Amino acid sequence: MSNQKEHILITGGAGFIGSHLIERLLNQGEHVAIIDDLSTGQFSNIEPFAKHHNFRFVIDSVFHEEVFDGLVKNAHTVIHLAAAVGVRLIVEHPVHTIQTNVMGTERVLKAALRYKTKVLIASTSEVYGKENHIPFAEDDDIVLGSSKKSRWAYAASKLVDEFLGLAYYREYNLPVAIVRFFNTIGPRQTGHYGMVVPRFMVQAICNKPITVYGDGTQSRCFCDVRDVVSAITQLIAHPTAFGEVFNIGGNEEVTIKELAERVIKLTHSSSPIVFVPYEKAYTLGFEDMHRRVPDTSRIFNLSGWKAMFSLNDTLAYIQDYFRLSPETLEKEKAILDKF
Ligand SMILES: NC(=O)c1ccc[n+]([C@@H]2O[C@H](COP(=O)([O-])OP(=O)(O)OC[C@H]3O[C@@H](n4cnc5c(N)ncnc54)[C@H](O)[C@@H]3O)[C@@H](O)[C@H]2O)c1
Repeated sequence: MSNQKEHILITGGAGFIGSHLIERLLNQGEHVAIIDDLSTGQFSNIEPFAKHHNFRFVIDSVFHEEVFDGLVKNAHTVIHLAAAVGVRLIVEHPVHTIQTNVMGTERVLKAALRYKTKVLIASTSEVYGKENHIPFAEDDDIVLGSSKKSRWAYAASKLVDEFLGLAYYREYNLPVAIVRFFNTIGPRQTGHYGMVVPRFMVQAICNKPITVYGDGTQSRCFCDVRDVVSAITQLIAHPTAFGEVFNIGGNEEVTIKELAERVIKLTHSSSPIVFVPYEKAYTLGFEDMHRRVPDTSRIFNLSGWKAMFSLNDTLAYIQDYFRLSPETLEKEKAILDKF
């Protein structure tokens, strides 16, 4: 690292979205550095780039100040993806979730301020909480559930990240942008932490029952990770993106039951669909959001971005990934029994 400010730093780069982002940025000729503690990420996600001359990886935590500081010092942009992710992880480890998400983001912002580095913070559609005015727009009011229900800790912690990021923007003029991802899907996402699409795909490929939580009428707008990385690269290049919050999501609303049916059809599976009550899948009194539909007009008006891949395209892309990576399929099969 000879030149100052030569790379884009991705925290959580060995995770699902991070690994796709590395690939895109390297293809664009960028220098990329990542830091990841491999808590939910995997080394195999970054292995293909490990010897790339424009790529550097550090297996460590954003909480390791000395190491992290050195990486931020040489970065012109930090894309902050590192977080405790996944509803199951959050329900089971609420303290870890809050600490990682809130204090981790504070570390990132402090270091970025020291070196005047641009920051993009990954937030989530979960922050819309119990909102039922569809579609969700970035400036809508937010209603979260009770603090006695751990599942809301994820949304609340990400919301604090947003407040903190925007406070650094307003008070210190630090260029900070926030993105709210809506159910991103694609290869390398694991079902390990409760993510629905990889779990359904593996259940279908193995002809095992597809476990739909609740009655399956809850709906989501899944977004292909290739579209998500396009949105990120467009936003970091756009000077007026900073100080703003952007929804990044797909435009095809699908119920979870219909998702299961599509996966069964695609994989020619004989899997039955089995409905599992939320309290059995998570905890008693678990609350889900019935619909989650993004209004993406803000990012469209800024950069012309909109999701390009259909859900069927993306499901086929994920199916191909499992077909071409039998060892990953085996790993995913091994965790199916947990769900
Ligand atoms: N995938 C989605 O559908 C989705 C939806 C909404 C928001 N998001 C957000 O996008 C970001 C990326 O999510 P993802 O799906 O790629 O999840 P992921 O779990 O694959 O990636 C998160 C990465 O952060 C790393 N990490 C966690 N704590 C760390 C720490 N202290 N130091 C360094 N690395 C650490 C993990 O090892 C992992 O590689 C997260 O901030 C998540 O909250 C994702």
